[in-house]
Amino acid sequence: MRNPNRRMVVMGLTASALSACEAVPYVPAKTKTATANVSGSRVKAAPAVAKLRANQTNPTQVWAFDGTVPGAGVRVTQGTRLRRRFVNALPQDSTIHWHGIRIDNAMDGVPGLTQDAVPQGGAFQYDFEVADAGTFWYHPHSNSFEQLSRGLSAPLIVKEKQPPDVDADLALMINHWVLDSNNQISGYGPGKNAPGPTSSHLTVNGAPTLVWETRQNERLRLRLINATAARVLRLRGAGFEGQVMALDGMPLAQPRRFSGITLAPAQRVDLIVDVTAQDGETAYLRDEFGDVLVALPVAGQASRSARPVAAPLPPNRESALVMQGARRVDVVMRGGQMGALSAARVMGADEPLGRSALIARGLSWSINGVAGMPKDPLADVGLGETVVLRVRNTNGLAHAMHLHGTHFRQVLGSGFGPLRDTILIGPNATMDIAFVADNPGSWMFHCHMLDHSVSGMMSWIKVSA
Ligand code: C2O
Ligand code: CU
Repeated sequence: MRNPNRRMVVMGLTASALSACEAVPYVPAKTKTATANVSGSRVKAAPAVAKLRANQTNPTQVWAFDGTVPGAGVRVTQGTRLRRRFVNALPQDSTIHWHGIRIDNAMDGVPGLTQDAVPQGGAFQYDFEVADAGTFWYHPHSNSFEQLSRGLSAPLIVKEKQPPDVDADLALMINHWVLDSNNQISGYGPGKNAPGPTSSHLTVNGAPTLVWETRQNERLRLRLINATAARVLRLRGAGFEGQVMALDGMPLAQPRRFSGITLAPAQRVDLIVDVTAQDGETAYLRDEFGDVLVALPVAGQASRSARPVAAPLPPNRESALVMQGARRVDVVMRGGQMGALSAARVMGADEPLGRSALIARGLSWSINGVAGMPKDPLADVGLGETVVLRVRNTNGLAHAMHLHGTHFRQVLGSGFGPLRDTILIGPNATMDIAFVADNPGSWMFHCHMLDHSVSGMMSWIKVSA
């Protein structure tokens, strides 16, 4: 970063208060760093307090990694080892899942599948090589719906050996909060901005709006991470020329011009934006409700001339898909609001359970007829096999399906979509996704709308060595 005096401040803004590129008065309230850079050898999860709203007086009780929501996170260089001792000071079991990282299965953080849960007061040593550069994140994989909603998430940034030339590289983590009138967490979930005793708030790096002072022609890398438990974000911007450089950490061979983006829960996008707004104007990113999540006020005359369009990021290693003779697996997702699922098997029960028994267990979703984690995998595939999951969503909601341990591509008539680790499958849609099973182990496949996974929408795939 060229200017160390650059500051990020907290404020609450709406686009109505900020028509395209007009000046925004703001009061610096708090300084934060957007470039997570915590070295050290441990990650601690513990209760903490935070102020999440503009002008909040009494703090919110949260659960935090290393004292802040989101956690400051980890920055490592591609090809190095990441070693962190996870210390659990929460009042319940937990683990860490390193989302999107192609990882040694024993380090994937899924209790009951890849490791034992870390009990209250316990610890676990995570130690793995990070092969891919990109924007990733980490979160617990134990009681995930509650633990994420209470604040446990942090960026994991793996730097390229030769990073692109930018004036600032900002990891921007978006969280969602449901707060009561006393500013305490009163629920979780997708909750829109509904009136009533609870209210729904997004934060970026813990603030209602993240503000980063800039100049015309500056080039910023914005790494946006949807760390909400269940909210699909639809983002638009003004005051800059942007390129979509990477999705879910994986570079696009051909970056495309940014004209807004949908980010499902757990998805990431790397943007390179060149500020076009002028002195006194503010470039911004906002959500579909008009709340400004990122404000880039331009202060001063341009200090440099415009750069040529950014070159693609260097690709990460990828095994080639071989579609001929690929292993095909049908995946059918059923369910809906309580009661829509008429029968499903549940681990530990031989006979399918009926509607009321499922409701009593809080289960409302199934994958291939099983609600919750099944004893047997969806498929047991051989190392190196190309696998095609035909995912059928028989329900009227979209789902953000996430596969652990590898990235996949959507199979399109004309070829393949970009590499992703999480993909939004629309209402009543069917999608084929393909990957090479090049990483042995037991890998979860689940919905990252965590209210859905907690109520049954989870399964796993086994890759046998
Ligand atoms: Cu980010 Cu299984 O999750
Ligand atoms: Cu879902």
